[in-house]
Amino acid sequence: MISRRAMLAGAAAMLAPHTATAASRAAPTLAEAAADAGIIYGASIDQQAFANPAYADLYRRETRILTTDVAMKFDWIRPVQERFEFSFADAILEAARVNGKLLRGHTLIWNDNAPDWLKRLSRREVERVFDEHIDRVVERYAGKLHSWDVVNEPFWPMDRQSGGWRNGPWYAAMGPSYVERAFRRVAAIDKTAHLTLNEAQCDNDHEWGRSIRPLLAGLVERLRDSGAPLHAIGLQSHLQPQWPADYPAFADYIGRLGDKGLEIYISEFDINDQSLPDDVAARDAAVAAVCSQFLNAVLRVPAVKMVVNWQLSDRYSWYRDVQRRLAPLSPRLPRPLPFDEGLQSKPMRAAMLASLAMRRSQQAPPRP
Ligand code: G3I
Repeated sequence: MISRRAMLAGAAAMLAPHTATAASRAAPTLAEAAADAGIIYGASIDQQAFANPAYADLYRRETRILTTDVAMKFDWIRPVQERFEFSFADAILEAARVNGKLLRGHTLIWNDNAPDWLKRLSRREVERVFDEHIDRVVERYAGKLHSWDVVNEPFWPMDRQSGGWRNGPWYAAMGPSYVERAFRRVAAIDKTAHLTLNEAQCDNDHEWGRSIRPLLAGLVERLRDSGAPLHAIGLQSHLQPQWPADYPAFADYIGRLGDKGLEIYISEFDINDQSLPDDVAARDAAVAAVCSQFLNAVLRVPAVKMVVNWQLSDRYSWYRDVQRRLAPLSPRLPRPLPFDEGLQSKPMRAAMLASLAMRRSQQAPPRP
């Protein structure tokens, strides 16, 4: 858990006035290029931004919206049943407020990463905790968030549950009804946040993407038919170039979701480079090419209103945590994001700017 001192020092760093350099005034930032294209751009944020003032400054310059990585997750807000721990989430909210950033809350209800104490409760107790958690957390942040990931990753066919549902304490206690129950309960408290259903894998044609896409579309259909307060769909978009993918077909899929009056958020965008060349320049170029293929497809969809990277710098990517656990001796470090470990811009950032410019040109009024 982040130390309180590091958090408050970092929050102070994020509260410092923003001094735009001549360079930043000349060239558009990702947030500025996105805004010109009708897109809200941002990144997930965690304790690293509070411990590294240079990283905090990169968020300040390049983003419009922040997504809490762990600070608003159930296991971080409720590490033990007897205590709600809001200080980290509060610090991120304050840093966002002072810096004029929008904030996404990620995520209220997720069947993964549940703390052990929750798994030991009876079904009835889990239901009570479910309602209590939503009430306490949503009341605290009502009116202050751009959007909530109300439910994260509802599906995981590998859990072998009927209907492909992700198993976990919420599903085990309430079955599929937990999803609509969550959305209705949040909407009764927070009247302004965009309530979002967030899902993974749909961007690929691997067996996981092929199986989850129809399940998500069916759930969205049922939620809309029942009048559930659903406003947006988050497609995480942790791209996996080592697997088959058809990004134009994925764009058609999210376009159909958008046709239901829903906003579409590319909510956790990064690119797994494990199958790409060892040479850094070649790998960065290959990542940028995948980025262009994907964004040029999805940014043609008018319902796409947001692109959020999952961190900004390779140094703090979750892929590096995964590698530290699974392949600690590997000489290669993952490079999935628009900025490198030195917080320098990479070809992926230029590719993002080019795709955003394409979207903007699409929106330009027809020449007289
Ligand atoms: O900060 C503590 C550290 O003090 C402690 O010593 C250490 C002990 O394990 O844990 C550290 O916390 C870790 C935290 O990331 C750091 O930010 C947690 O163990 C670790 O579980 C947590 O992993 C996060 C994971 O979600 C689970 O919450 C990743 O950072 C985060 O990138 C990942 O994000 C998920 C999205 O929520 C959903 N979509 C997939 C995405 C990637 O897995």
